[in-house]
Amino acid sequence: MHPVQKSLCLLLVATASLALLYLHIWSPKPYSTVDLRNRPDRAPGQPLGQRLLGPSNEYAHIAFRLKQEIVEQLPRDSCTCEVGPAGKMPFQKQLFGQPYSLDFATGFGPTELARIHGSREREYQSYRQRAQSPADQLLIVRANSPLEYPAQGVEVRPLQTILIPGLSLQAAGRKEYRVNLTATLGAFDVAAVVEGVTAQGEGETRLSLAGAQLDNLNRQLQFVTYTNTLFHPNTADTVQFATDGHQASFTIRIRHAPTPKLYNPGFPGSDGADYNISAMVTIATKTFLRYDKLRTLIASIRRFYPTVPIIIADDSQHPEPMKGPHIEQYFMPFGKGWFAGRNLAISQVTTKYVLWVDDDFVFTPRTRVEKLVDVLEKTSLDLVGGAVREITGFTTTYRQKISVQAGGEEGDCLQTRQGYHHLIEGFPGCVVTDGVVNFFLARTDKVLQVGFDPRLSRVAHLEFFIDGLGVLHVGSCADVVVDHASKIKLPWQKTASEKQYAKFRYPASADGSVSLKHGLFYFKNRFKCMTGN
Ligand SMILES: *[C@@H]1O[C@H](CO)[C@@H](O)[C@H](O)[C@H]1NC(C)=O
Ligand SMILES: *[C@@H]1O[C@H](CO)[C@@H](O)[C@H](O)[C@H]1NC(C)=O
Repeated sequence: MHPVQKSLCLLLVATASLALLYLHIWSPKPYSTVDLRNRPDRAPGQPLGQRLLGPSNEYAHIAFRLKQEIVEQLPRDSCTCEVGPAGKMPFQKQLFGQPYSLDFATGFGPTELARIHGSREREYQSYRQRAQSPADQLLIVRANSPLEYPAQGVEVRPLQTILIPGLSLQAAGRKEYRVNLTATLGAFDVAAVVEGVTAQGEGETRLSLAGAQLDNLNRQLQFVTYTNTLFHPNTADTVQFATDGHQASFTIRIRHAPTPKLYNPGFPGSDGADYNISAMVTIATKTFLRYDKLRTLIASIRRFYPTVPIIIADDSQHPEPMKGPHIEQYFMPFGKGWFAGRNLAISQVTTKYVLWVDDDFVFTPRTRVEKLVDVLEKTSLDLVGGAVREITGFTTTYRQKISVQAGGEEGDCLQTRQGYHHLIEGFPGCVVTDGVVNFFLARTDKVLQVGFDPRLSRVAHLEFFIDGLGVLHVGSCADVVVDHASKIKLPWQKTASEKQYAKFRYPASADGSVSLKHGLFYFKNRFKCMTGN
């Protein structure tokens, strides 16, 4: 080969391999797909009160004698609201008030009650499925030291008593088998006495059990109870469990059961639809000076959803009332701001879901709210965004991945990137991400939990999703689309109110709204910096 040809050839080979390498590194990695659907086999375990009722069947051959006064304190899952007989103490009524009892089921007729009850239980089961985490499950550590104990998942209501499940000693060849249990926020006792075992410290924070027969000691361990004695609504007691030469510790969670906040989703209508959107969804928006746009939005909603409730937060200078059925308009002080208005609007929602829209959006046949409801009803997601179609025809979902890296004393580092984490099995076009566009359907209770910081008065959006990290499970579906009314207008075509709107909505950075935002990131969220794309 001619030397020039040869080097040209080498150069070609080198370029080709570099190009291949480049492609290999930069070609998009395929996204993995996750299955977020609620499934019966993923149902959470029995709630406290139904489990932990009795000791296991191990060591059944060893007899015991129940201590009735302790057994009576154990949870039973069969509470009643009976009021005890009137006491004989003088002035009892004056001192402690008249005892009373109310029955909430009596407010419904028998057929209505059956329906309401069924609907409530379905909502409760799906709430439990969402509310429970694997960190709550009971987990017993089998004896790799001779001590067997529950690693997690033991829970007691404040000042109540439970049997501690899973305690045993797996040792052999000792003259005497001894264990100690020590707690700080509660006391131990035994719900039954087993022969051949001596117990010391019943009713105290330290319980010692000893016996010459291992099986008897283990039988006794099945009856150990824990009573919380120092009230706290949500904390944990670390229990030390020891035998000669070995020690283990585990936690007992002390807390009130979180009170569910369920919304009645209505009943599937006679029209054969899966969901009654008017009973499940409220459309919320915030308006400021743009009544022509707002009227267009409402008219477009009413074409498709004639009875869905609409809530408007309004901080215009000269408010105009919006008339019509199923519309609530809340007036706020002039220029109160963007997030304050969002906060006010969502605070008034009484349905299970809230659909956020901007006041210059327009519903079209592609704005299928049912589809978003279906995603939230059937998955573990809390919030799902749609897509917004600009007047140019360009459609955006504004999907954002948000993460935070630890940064020591200076503060942490916030990172936002366009994109998403996974595709969602069973919902083509839908993905899991952290932040979405201004058009989303969300569980009302979850949005209320995060809230919109009213200090963010002008340009703000992603801040809500940053505050919601770790609280909101966010998805985005590209095939539910709302139209965006014209945004870009030449200055001389703008009306006076549009000019005033632009002044508030897109302030020059000099007016302090940017530094306010940065100040909130710095102080409230304890970030020192952020990167994004
Ligand atoms: C149990 O506690 C008692 C009293 O503090 C102590 O004397 C004994 O050594 C402990 N036993 C074990 C097995 O830790
Ligand atoms: C849907 O719910 C609304 C509000 O609760 C109710 O007025 C309406 O009758 C329901 N529609 C159907 C078809 O059941």
